[in-house]
Amino acid sequence: MSDLLVRLYDLPDVRTEEKIASHGITVRRAMAAEAHIVLPWIERHFYNPWVSEATRAFTRSPVMVWIAVRHNELLGFACADCSMRGFFGPTGVAKAARGQGIGEALLFTTLRGMREAEYAYAVIGGVGPLAFYRKHLDAIDIPGSEESIYGPMLHDDKGRDFDDFQSGQRRTGRKKDVAFVKRARANVPDHAWLGRSVAVDIALHFERPFFSVLATNLIQN
Ligand SMILES: CC(C)(COP(=O)(O)OP(=O)(O)OC[C@H]1O[C@@H](n2cnc3c(N)ncnc32)[C@H](O)[C@@H]1OP(=O)(O)O)[C@@H](O)C(=O)NCCC(=O)NCCS
Repeated sequence: MSDLLVRLYDLPDVRTEEKIASHGITVRRAMAAEAHIVLPWIERHFYNPWVSEATRAFTRSPVMVWIAVRHNELLGFACADCSMRGFFGPTGVAKAARGQGIGEALLFTTLRGMREAEYAYAVIGGVGPLAFYRKHLDAIDIPGSEESIYGPMLHDDKGRDFDDFQSGQRRTGRKKDVAFVKRARANVPDHAWLGRSVAVDIALHFERPFFSVLATNLIQN
């Protein structure tokens, strides 16, 4: 999957944060004083590398982390300027809170924040759910960016790398396959449940390449 280039100077006027505000959900810039809550939350819900990236975003001035909150409960986050300046992401919404517009509100609030920081373009690096980004954004695939900046990145041994989740391309060994299947199953949207079951069956009974292609499609679409 290529990186995406987004024009920030003509963003569509998507105001999902106003819609979710009527459900008591606020999307706002995080404060440095909230880092000790937000970072462990990201670790619990997502991937260790995202904790590293969000830590960087908390050191920016102003802070480049946005959060979605309801009644003192953290529901989601989005960052910019993490591993690279001008990059959007990582972003994530707690599983139980998905499908209400929170991800979209975080995306557009963060992109507008980047515009205010005088970026003309944002790069969405190592894109996972392509359809999510393409729904409103006329984003351009950046040629030659398939490996993105993350190609040479070190990985921990906990099997929680986003590379695995995204494409499975760097997986080694059957054990890791099963871990990947479990994570993929947990992350594919509910409406894809039928395809998800099929992908898991294929993964368990056939060769990895079949599963890689199918799971990648399920996760990204
Ligand atoms: C991607 C993610 C942030 C979306 O959050 P969300 O709050 O569920 O998204 P929203 O409710 O705002 O969805 C907005 C629209 O995008 C669509 N969408 C949401 N997640 C999608 C996905 N994974 N794939 C395709 N479309 C998706 C929704 O169907 C919705 O469209 P609709 O209004 O026509 O129904 C969330 O699924 C998540 O945390 N995923 C795991 C982490 C991840 O992949 N992060 C992105 C890394 S690049």
